[in-house]
Amino acid sequence: MIPYIRGLHSITCIHFLPNMKILIPLLFPLFLTVNGCLHISGPSNKNCTPTDPSVFLFAYSNDLDRSDLIMYYQLTGPIYNTHRSHGLKFNVAATVRFDTKIREDIVFHEVANEDDKLFHSQNAAGTRVEQQNVDPSQRFDSSETGSDVLDMLERFIGTNYKDLCGSSALIVMSRSPNEVEISKLVTKIREYHITLNIVVRVPFSGGHRPETIYDLAAKTNGQCAFTNVVRDQAYHWMPNILNAFTYYSLNLKVSGTGTMVLPPLTLQKNATLDLGVGAQSSATAESFQNLTLSWRNSQTGTTGSFSRTREQMNQKSLNFFSKEKFLEAEAATYELTLDYNYSLEDTVLIRMNSLQPIDDWLPYQNSSIETQ
Ligand SMILES: *[C@@H]1O[C@H](CO)[C@@H](O)[C@H](O)[C@H]1NC(C)=O
Ligand SMILES: *[C@@H]1O[C@H](CO)[C@@H](O)[C@H](O)[C@H]1NC(C)=O
Ligand SMILES: *[C@@H]1O[C@H](CO)[C@@H](O)[C@H](O)[C@H]1NC(C)=O
Ligand SMILES: *[C@@H]1O[C@H](CO)[C@@H](O)[C@H](O)[C@H]1NC(C)=O
Repeated sequence: MIPYIRGLHSITCIHFLPNMKILIPLLFPLFLTVNGCLHISGPSNKNCTPTDPSVFLFAYSNDLDRSDLIMYYQLTGPIYNTHRSHGLKFNVAATVRFDTKIREDIVFHEVANEDDKLFHSQNAAGTRVEQQNVDPSQRFDSSETGSDVLDMLERFIGTNYKDLCGSSALIVMSRSPNEVEISKLVTKIREYHITLNIVVRVPFSGGHRPETIYDLAAKTNGQCAFTNVVRDQAYHWMPNILNAFTYYSLNLKVSGTGTMVLPPLTLQKNATLDLGVGAQSSATAESFQNLTLSWRNSQTGTTGSFSRTREQMNQKSLNFFSKEKFLEAEAATYELTLDYNYSLEDTVLIRMNSLQPIDDWLPYQNSSIETQ
């Protein structure tokens, strides 16, 4: 007997008992078409909403310097405070160090305190990062060795932790992966709606395929910023780290100069949106010249815009721009236009995030929209 409830997949999930696992591989393909909500193994659920309790993962490469880890406190303090004061989303902190000779476990900092769980979890996570720090003796011996960041993400998902769905990961790294093929990982990250905020310290400490990281962020509605100075108030230039709810996400392939009308943004409720723009796919690209992103409220005709030039790139951000309160907007439909100026082809990532909860996940994009 296969139990199923038609049409209730967003509300009701069918929980399989562990001893039914053997049956699942056979039933799953058939079953998914009738009921999108299945717990195949373990208690983790793929059908969460953006506001369901989830995990905040801090993952850092052992290639970083001790002093880079101050970023942890600069970033996670505001993140947790914001989420605590708004009663939002994250309810457990997780940490892991990667790029080590001996692989290390992902630790979920579960605490007994019921009153302020996130606060105590964050404290435990902070203590762990402080004690673990970085260990130069555990670094890979060769700069040819690629980062194991993709393996780390596979393992994070593989934990099947109960609140895995809808998690956010802040990943700080300096070594590129050597892999190019990421489609399996992309599928998993999408299934669990995991948001990636990746900060890459350059120059790279090793590895050969930096473009894989940008590609991973692009395909999962995440962000990827290259920087020379990890330790400098990164949340000022990566706003999505603070604002967990994604309202707009678009990847565009651009080259030359032109104007492109983008898909409009419809706000059901008043919202304040921060903007993040990945202007080029690497720290060293020379393609980006300047761009302007403009909005127009189609009901009232109010307009606004954001412009940046190549000269405005600085050490803090070698490919990424952000603008707090890009749109402080009332419920309406907003027309969006991008004016771009690139000397070579590149991929632009446009993201708008808010602290105001949103009901649904945005769709994912496999290939960047091409400009004419
Ligand atoms: C989109 O990408 C995912 C992951 O790479 C892949 O599994 C899926 O088949 C792709 N879909 C299309 C329509 O190309
Ligand atoms: C494009 O960038 C170049 C170099 O910065 C500049 O000279 C030119 O005026 C720009 N053109 C447009 C249309 O933005
Ligand atoms: C680039 O900058 C130039 C000079 O300020 C300006 O005229 C042009 O409109 C800008 N182009 C874009 C695409 O923002
Ligand atoms: C939304 O914003 C408009 C304009 O600022 C304001 O008049 C309205 O009261 C706001 N609505 C809500 C529900 O806050």
